[in-house]
Amino acid sequence: MTSTFTISAWRQRLARSLHVSRSKPEAKYIQLATLSDEGFVQNRTLVFRGFVDESDHIIMITDTRSDKFLALQAHSHAEICWYFAKTREQYRLSGNINIFANTSDLRTSVWNKISPSAKAQFYWYLDDKLVNELSLNNSIPDTFCVLLLETQQVDYLLLADQHERIKYQLIDKKWQETHINP
Ligand SMILES: Cc1cc2nc3c(=O)[nH]c(=O)nc-3n(C[C@H](O)[C@H](O)[C@H](O)COP(=O)(O)O)c2cc1C
Repeated sequence: MTSTFTISAWRQRLARSLHVSRSKPEAKYIQLATLSDEGFVQNRTLVFRGFVDESDHIIMITDTRSDKFLALQAHSHAEICWYFAKTREQYRLSGNINIFANTSDLRTSVWNKISPSAKAQFYWYLDDKLVNELSLNNSIPDTFCVLLLETQQVDYLLLADQHERIKYQLIDKKWQETHINP
């Protein structure tokens, strides 16, 4: 079957920003803001783990024991803020987060792609020998979970000599682009 997915304009920009900063590990650090079950704003740094194929869904990973996991059960809406220092661009992406905490193909494939050091963080309560054995078996810890941001809106800001701000909104499954004067 041929795919009908076309890469949106904001994804093309983001791909360029990532490419220009590809030598900088910190270019993949994003800030994720959520609301606690009491309605308080929380944010923290996470690593961007790529997109689900043929979609605008952003992959992140976390531990089910974390506050964000609890927060997202109460309020699934979230926002990512992402700054590329080299190109002086800010992206703010928002939408609902889907949680994959149980066995699923996506959870397994993300686990298989992450580095040994990222995996080790989910085994902090075990000694090195057990960690090695579990890693060799490639068994996935129960607390490992994938968060998927289903991007619905992107606010892009370029701080070049001439500022540029663009809002991208997903309306009726199509991306609409609006240029904004700050
Ligand atoms: C550079 C950096 C990258 C991080 N990447 C992740 C990540 O990918 N997933 C994660 O759960 N926490 C990551 N953390 C830790 C989080 O920022 C946070 O401290 C932790 O997840 C607990 O957050 P919470 O209590 O708000 O849930 C990272 C921290 C830093 C400084």
